[in-house]
Amino acid sequence: MELAVFSAKPYDKKYLSEALALRSDSSIELIFHDFSLSEDTVALANGSDAVCVFVNDTLNTPVIEALHQAGVRAILLRCAGFNNVDLIKAEKLGLFVANVPSYSPEAVAEFAVALIQTLNRNTHRAYNRVREGNFSLDGLLGRTLHGKTVGVVGTGKIGVAFARIMKGFGCRLLAHDPYPVDAFKELGDYTDLDTLLSQSDFVSLHCPLMPSTDHIINEASVAKMKKGAMLVNTSRGPLIETRAVIAALKTKHLGGLALDVYDGEGALFYNDHSGEVIQDDELMRLTTFHNVLVCGHQAFFTEEALGEIADSTLRNLEDFDERKPCHNALVKQGHLYVKKKSLPVRI
Ligand SMILES: NC(=O)c1ccc[n+]([C@@H]2O[C@H](COP(=O)([O-])OP(=O)(O)OC[C@H]3O[C@@H](n4cnc5c(N)ncnc54)[C@H](O)[C@@H]3O)[C@@H](O)[C@H]2O)c1
Repeated sequence: MELAVFSAKPYDKKYLSEALALRSDSSIELIFHDFSLSEDTVALANGSDAVCVFVNDTLNTPVIEALHQAGVRAILLRCAGFNNVDLIKAEKLGLFVANVPSYSPEAVAEFAVALIQTLNRNTHRAYNRVREGNFSLDGLLGRTLHGKTVGVVGTGKIGVAFARIMKGFGCRLLAHDPYPVDAFKELGDYTDLDTLLSQSDFVSLHCPLMPSTDHIINEASVAKMKKGAMLVNTSRGPLIETRAVIAALKTKHLGGLALDVYDGEGALFYNDHSGEVIQDDELMRLTTFHNVLVCGHQAFFTEEALGEIADSTLRNLEDFDERKPCHNALVKQGHLYVKKKSLPVRI
């Protein structure tokens, strides 16, 4: 069974090959493509039984149709989010689609904490200063996390893992989630989004991208945040309206912003553009603020998570091939396993 892996980076090749090597009698054959899946590259899936894709591959209606025409029967997402896939079209064409909904949620949660610690204690600035022989502390003043209020938007696997760590720092925890879970109730209090925004010193986004969360942080909601509060997004870029946070950073209403994901990251992230003139003016404006951190969607990037992702991806394909129930199926035998209201807004 041929599996065409798009957007394949050296680490994808390593971990998928290692996971396959552990399956001595597997019929899976991996074909790696360094470039992403799009309307321009979909022809390379010809002859493959399945494709394996990542967060910034394009699986819009034309691509799904082309995959179907090429004889591809399964789409394997080696990530949790599926906002880049036209699941309705996949359902109509009878394609199997599965994701990896859970892989080391602690990896992402720990990265969100790392961003808070860096931004709050200015270690990113200290690192650069010391290398220049500048040991001045001016401008490096932080705030003790102990006793501060942390707002968690979305208390799924990652949000709860994040909340547990922040509880360990001695923070007071607030959360907003339309589906409250007991695991969070042991750590803090649920409240409505406006109260969370107005009371939190740090707000961390852990909800998926869907119609109800697209630009959940916009001009109106950022205005409701406590003055000087910091905002962290390790979930999906379009949760934040970039223009609104730039305006709030300029007025100093927003005290800091840490992004692992960015609306428009698809054109840039995971590739080296250092020799080019980057055309995204909003992203470039963000990088000029001393109190903004931008990372290139790396919160998941630990050895443990990559191992789990590779193994789950191959297991999803095996389940499909052996017609076994697949717990990670989003679409199977023409049936959509995702609530319609959770479907992506912009593909
Ligand atoms: N940066 C990275 O490397 C990386 C890695 C993995 C996942 N992610 C992102 O993290 C997100 C969360 O992952 P997870 O595994 O915790 O998902 P999850 O499905 O376990 O949890 C998501 C939670 O968000 C809640 N939610 C839905 N709508 C909401 C709303 N309007 N307001 C508040 N909460 C809402 C859901 O009820 C659920 O509890 C994923 O959707 C993905 O986009 C990022």
